[in-house]
Amino acid sequence: MAKLIVALDLPHPPAIWQLVENLAELVEYYKVGPVPFTVGGVSLVEQLRRKGKRVFLDLKFFDIPHVVGETVQRLCQSGVDLITVHLLGGRRMAEAALEAKIKSGSPAALLGVTVLTSMTEDDWRPLGVKTDLKQMVKNLACLGREWGLDGVVCSPEEAGFLRNLCPSPFLLVCPGIRWSAATDDQKRVASPGLAAAQGADFLVVGRPVYQAPDPVRIVTEILKEIQRGEKGLA
Ligand code: C5P
Repeated sequence: MAKLIVALDLPHPPAIWQLVENLAELVEYYKVGPVPFTVGGVSLVEQLRRKGKRVFLDLKFFDIPHVVGETVQRLCQSGVDLITVHLLGGRRMAEAALEAKIKSGSPAALLGVTVLTSMTEDDWRPLGVKTDLKQMVKNLACLGREWGLDGVVCSPEEAGFLRNLCPSPFLLVCPGIRWSAATDDQKRVASPGLAAAQGADFLVVGRPVYQAPDPVRIVTEILKEIQRGEKGLA
């Protein structure tokens, strides 16, 4: 069954730990991105692991191969379960990350970020790339697979066609989970049920959970929807 990852994009450790405690019975996976990593660093990852949680470290590395390799090797030693690099960094960068992960002895899944779920075709076009956004997502996912990565981060709108191109166990990790057309920065979105029905392995949800008056109720609803989606009832 697709798993839920709750994004801990909160700048204050007490709020992070309160959320993790509230969701203790329901959620195993947490995303540590630039916001919580800035305030909590590697020790936040280690503390989550000590509590028996699994960690998606989503710092989306995009740098020269040497720097990405050195960084990934050290972070993998902190016990992360999933870690990201940008696929636009190219083959040598992705391979440096993969070699570093292997050298660290970590079983972490190395994921490639395709195109951010906040971007639309209108954001994409001015960049001057001749390939349209959806085709670029396909190209990047196929390259990531060819380069030996364990999966990609993509929009739930793209999970269906990527699942056909890149069968399991290649992982599809989908942020951009919303119940209606987003009014915030997320643009290529779908509901939890649809994301699960399209073949996503992980759904990453942040604000709809941590900004909710009752995060436990929302998470319970998301988990039910994932089950319905996988049964084709979304
Ligand atoms: O708050 P929200 O549900 O939009 O959070 C989505 C999370 O997924 C954020 O932590 C964001 O960094 C992450 N993410 C994303 N798009 C990507 C990769 C990661 O939104 N392509």
